[in-house]
Amino acid sequence: MNAPRARIIGTGSYLPEKRMTNDDLCKIVDTSSEWISSRTGILERRVAAEDEMTSDLAAHASRRALEAAGCAPEELDLIICATSTPDLVFPATATILQRKIEAQGAKAPAFDIQAVCTGFVYALSIADQFIRSGMSKKVLVVGAETFTRILDWEDRTTCILFGDGAGAVVLEAVAGDSPQGILSTRMHADGSHVELLRVTGGISRGRPSGFDVRHEALGFVDMHGNEVFKQAVKAMGAIAEEILLANNVTVDDIDWLIPHQANRRILQATAKRINIPEERVVMTVDHHGNTSAASVPLALDEAVRDGRIKPGQLILLDAFGGGFTWASALIRW
Ligand SMILES: CC(C)(COP(=O)(O)OP(=O)(O)OC[C@H]1O[C@@H](n2cnc3c(N)ncnc32)[C@H](O)[C@@H]1OP(=O)(O)O)[C@@H](O)C(=O)NCCC(=O)NCCS
Repeated sequence: MNAPRARIIGTGSYLPEKRMTNDDLCKIVDTSSEWISSRTGILERRVAAEDEMTSDLAAHASRRALEAAGCAPEELDLIICATSTPDLVFPATATILQRKIEAQGAKAPAFDIQAVCTGFVYALSIADQFIRSGMSKKVLVVGAETFTRILDWEDRTTCILFGDGAGAVVLEAVAGDSPQGILSTRMHADGSHVELLRVTGGISRGRPSGFDVRHEALGFVDMHGNEVFKQAVKAMGAIAEEILLANNVTVDDIDWLIPHQANRRILQATAKRINIPEERVVMTVDHHGNTSAASVPLALDEAVRDGRIKPGQLILLDAFGGGFTWASALIRW
């Protein structure tokens, strides 16, 4: 008998209320609305309220995904949250989320994974392995970020790019010969480029003397934009080709490419590299900005809910992030 297959039975997402337009950013840093939109394709992004944590965003998105799936929280036997902006150093945001959605009754395992903007596709791949092995039957996978909390609002090269949000999916184990589900996933990392995209502070780096933990943040996003741009296009193109080849399909078979929403120019260059027309690429970066681990599930949920994604279609998820990390997933909807 074939190993079970993981099928997405519900999607959900959440964006904080507060919009920040490019004009709003012009009041904070020396930039222009035209520069931001022409270089990145971003027109606005959302910013979490002061009392809104990553787990709150994740809980909203998860409730919507559970509702769409017709799944009660206590049915979940695994929760994975992908985030680089956890509520706390510990416990994992996934356990805080478990309590917020009242799923703790099942005592199912819950943990975070951190692969920055690739986080959701990494988490989806891990969940797929748990389902294929028979360990799990109903899994919640979430990508959630309050990335605006780690931005340096004096650095115009980075603060214009990112936003907050969350997206979630519920996976169910189905028969291995079921036509629908996750067909395949691919994951990679190359730690030689850590310095090109990172947050400059962290726990084990320690605190300089006089550091006031109550007032000083633990570092900010720091990026070499040009180099990241080139690496992102190369890696996202290569991992798309790798997964297509491994599954004996061509780009013509793909109905929708859902890439990590880093920047419109990165998405256009990736689409060109793998030769998929832009009409078949889901783009939300104009109104979401780069929401890191939340970007792929936010875009997926938007395309499911507006009816672009239909049963039977072939969907390719493709992500790239700090580390560098990159990953893809091929899904028959
Ligand atoms: C960040 C990014 C938009 C910058 O665009 P770019 O075309 O590469 O621009 P450059 O960095 O070469 O800078 C060009 C000029 O614009 C200036 N500039 C940078 N940010 C600016 C801003 N917000 N407003 C106005 N000017 C800006 C620079 O200072 C530079 O000026 P100079 O020529 O006088 O030195 C681009 O590199 C990028 O998208 N990189 C990938 C980022 C990303 O998606 N990261 C996440 C991946 S998961």
